[in-house]
Amino acid sequence: MDTSIVILAAGLGTRMKSKRAKVLHKAGGLTLVEHVVNSALAIAAPERIVVVVGHQADQVRETLAHTGVQFAVQTEQKGTGHAVRMCRQLLSAEPGYVLVAYGDCPLLRAETFRGLVDEQAGSKAGATLVTSRLEDPRGYGRIILDDAGHVAAIVEQKAATPEQLEIRLVNSGIYCFRAELLWKHIGEIEPNNSAHEYYLTDMAEILHRAGHFVQPFTVDDPREIVGINTRLELAEVDRFLRDRKVRELMLDGVTIEKPETVTIDAQVEIGRDSIIEPFVRITGRTVIGEDCTIGSCSIIADSRLAAGVAIAPFTHMIATTVDAGATIGPFARLRMNAHVHEAAQIGNFVELKNTHFGPGAKAHHLSYLGDATIGEKVNIGAGTITCNFDGVKKHRTSIGDNAFVGSNSTLVAPAEIGSNSYVGAGSVITDPVPADALAIGRGRQVIKEGWVSKRKKK
Ligand code: UD1
Ligand code: CA
Repeated sequence: MDTSIVILAAGLGTRMKSKRAKVLHKAGGLTLVEHVVNSALAIAAPERIVVVVGHQADQVRETLAHTGVQFAVQTEQKGTGHAVRMCRQLLSAEPGYVLVAYGDCPLLRAETFRGLVDEQAGSKAGATLVTSRLEDPRGYGRIILDDAGHVAAIVEQKAATPEQLEIRLVNSGIYCFRAELLWKHIGEIEPNNSAHEYYLTDMAEILHRAGHFVQPFTVDDPREIVGINTRLELAEVDRFLRDRKVRELMLDGVTIEKPETVTIDAQVEIGRDSIIEPFVRITGRTVIGEDCTIGSCSIIADSRLAAGVAIAPFTHMIATTVDAGATIGPFARLRMNAHVHEAAQIGNFVELKNTHFGPGAKAHHLSYLGDATIGEKVNIGAGTITCNFDGVKKHRTSIGDNAFVGSNSTLVAPAEIGSNSYVGAGSVITDPVPADALAIGRGRQVIKEGWVSKRKKK
């Protein structure tokens, strides 16, 4: 398909009342503009997609850098027609069609893009535009049809007469133009409205007057065309996307208890027969295998869990890898490339930071294990702390296979505990412990017989 796609994302979005550009706000775990770009990528190569940036252009570019799309800059936001003109240099030599969409319409499906282009390609129209009939058309441009059922004009809410305000057929802001007609006529848009902006919507009337016809392409589900202008609308769309995500997961074989309470981002993957308990939050690029349980109120971001992992309630996990059959929590915290190996057990109030925790190893209670490599079947007693920071630099701790670290041990890094060794409870370990050895680093217990009654006599 010879189609270029222009996505308008230069506006600030005054009605959001935000420092952040509107298209950078998130719904369903992705920025608004990413949603639109993802749909565009389903029907066009990234070299044929141009995003018009202006407000916070650098952040928008950065957000989309991984997609390979092109950018055009609109330094001053003089309206949607002006924004499209900024792509002329990049696109006017390209044949075929130019599809224009707004970056604040995150629910648009790729199928609708495809349908729109097919509709245009199969007709003699100068342009086709996506419309829908809304119960409440407030805020949208209204479509004025001629006797033939073609679009004669689009009237913005602000400029509409009371009769025009009654029209429920609205402009979605998604258009497919014949490329040569768009570039031939776009210069004719005048800023003759109360906002003194160049409205892309004027193209309907311009083409109509030039003897071309513009056809409406009506979508049945009006939700699909929703353009976000306020935080209220943002929250509604977020809820819609979350609902859709949990429904998809449940239909794919994931059990979600009280689905209305969980928050799962769009890209998250979860395997069959996994159970998600109430109030769980799973975000970013998290992938969860089959037969896992994620306990209530746990938060899991950008992590990978293999099959059969059990996460007890209130666990907080970021950028962590968990291998098959491991158990974690409740109240555990894992972060910064923590890796819990197969069948290992992490219990309550245990924190792992940048630590490899070996297969079958156990740390059941109250520990901080940072910058450590912990071997197979190691036992970490309650209250064990790796002292990884000397006030200037971080140091590593390594603990060999089958070592036993007694409760309340303090391992001053750099620390090395050999395999099969024992560390006595309450030890402060400052020197390397050889394999197979017992290390005790604590004051000896002293007993003073009859001390209490002697003291009382005084
Ligand atoms: C626009 C349409 C309206 C339609 C509605 C659908 C116009 C004049 N009106 O109104 O008919 O019903 O969308 O949602 O087009 N943008 C730029 N540069 C600019 C101005 C805007 O890039 O100079 C971008 C914004 O970042 C935004 C998009 O264009 O992503 C739409 O702008 P917005 O101000 O939200 O238009 P609406 O008032 O909603
Ligand atoms: Ca809008």
